[in-house]
Amino acid sequence: MAEDVFFDSQAPKVERYELVFQQTKALVADETDEIANLANISALLKQAFDFYWVGFYRVMENQLVLGPFQGTLACTRIPFDKGVCGACYTQKQTLIVPNVEEFPGHIACSSFSKSEIVVPIFKNNEVKLVLDVDSDKLNDFDETDKIFLEKICSLIA
Ligand code: SME
Repeated sequence: MAEDVFFDSQAPKVERYELVFQQTKALVADETDEIANLANISALLKQAFDFYWVGFYRVMENQLVLGPFQGTLACTRIPFDKGVCGACYTQKQTLIVPNVEEFPGHIACSSFSKSEIVVPIFKNNEVKLVLDVDSDKLNDFDETDKIFLEKICSLIA
């Protein structure tokens, strides 16, 4: 049963990530349905950091298909050779894009999105999902985001 979680917007990023990590652990221990868990993890990340857009794309039918997210309308299908999400899938690694306008092939779902981080989620050594987080600020993601988002994503695998 989900309970309210309170995030202190003044707390250091690491503290808020620790709380998201603990909450995610509890969520996935309690529920086996993947969509339900992805929906709640998107909500947790949105609540903790007020990211402009945060959500998942699922690998389906040889492309990435929009999954649970929090934020504005997003493109529903992304080919593997397009966008930061496609590059993350193909390169099988986390990509941090400080300025989306400088990333060749970036897909602009919203003109407000300025920087982005995309994390692959593996099952049996294959990328099955990607977590996409967009910020309306330039250069908003760093190594701390990468470490914690990868830790959180490892709970989903
Ligand atoms: N910007 C992403 C597309 C997804 S949206 O930002 C939600 C990309 O270039 O893959």
